[in-house]
Amino acid sequence: MTGMKRTTEKNLMVFSGRAHPELASEVAEQLGSGLVPQSAYDFANGEIYVRFEESVRGCDAFVLQSHAAPINQWVMEQLIMVDALKRASAKRITVVQPFYAYARQDKKHRGREPVSARLVADLFKTAGADRLIAVDLHSSQIQGFFDGPVDHLMAMPILAGYVSDKYGVEDLVVVSPDAGRIRVAEQWASRLGGTPLAFVHKTRDAHRPNEAVANRVVGEIRDRTCVLVDDMIDTGGTIVKAVDALLDAGAASVVVAATHAVLSGPAVDRLKNSRAREVVVTNTLPVGADKQFDTLTLLSIAPLISRAIREVFEDGSVTSLFDGRA
Ligand code: R5P
Repeated sequence: MTGMKRTTEKNLMVFSGRAHPELASEVAEQLGSGLVPQSAYDFANGEIYVRFEESVRGCDAFVLQSHAAPINQWVMEQLIMVDALKRASAKRITVVQPFYAYARQDKKHRGREPVSARLVADLFKTAGADRLIAVDLHSSQIQGFFDGPVDHLMAMPILAGYVSDKYGVEDLVVVSPDAGRIRVAEQWASRLGGTPLAFVHKTRDAHRPNEAVANRVVGEIRDRTCVLVDDMIDTGGTIVKAVDALLDAGAASVVVAATHAVLSGPAVDRLKNSRAREVVVTNTLPVGADKQFDTLTLLSIAPLISRAIREVFEDGSVTSLFDGRA
């Protein structure tokens, strides 16, 4: 009797949206998997079409898309990719969003506002995502918005390693540009062996998005090298005002370290002309040649993402990537 050959071997397949193909290629190369060939294009009215050019039946799918501008287009493309995978019988679908769109709208600040970060999670669940991988969510509780496993990766070891190798840790003070993010600064300080902490008190006008309106330094920073850490630089307003506040308060120099280089509108000009000694970011989002400047250092997030994908695929431990530190 000839029996049907069964295989339980899982098949890792990596898919890339069109927002940041360089990062996806780097990740696929490190995994040794290659990227699944696909066709993707826009119809005249902006609707998106996607088709994979090989069978995905039974695969363990990892769908990479950086939510860069135009953000709604790239979120939608990733949703459509997930839908196509679900309908083509992928066994498991993991959405990899190095930068999670709408993460800043994670609560209602005032009546009649949306919680868009939750909506994004629901959209991916509805499309067919089984799990999510993201880097430095604006707030950790967004993990709970998605109904399924979420691997929340931290760029901090990569950024902190670079900063401590270059500047040492002797005179460093880790500074949060916002009292609300002091927990992340604490993780940095602990990683750097217990450096002191400070923060810049920032206030906002709820009617003026992207505009920080007042800064005051809390903590001892005089004659020290400050590492100003943030999850993202969008228009650069927050960071540049914090750099000024620190130098005006007597800091010796300020190095900026941020995970997501959103770099909208005036950001590049502001950062280029700022008094920051160096601005260190990762490539969770594409940073084209037109956005690069002399004091900008771009570190690759690909090794972190590829190791996380490997651990998920092999049912290993993503926590092991951080030596157990969460
Ligand atoms: C705010 O809570 C965030 O952590 C960032 O500091 C902020 O979104 C950056 O925006 P911008 O660069 O436009 O000031």
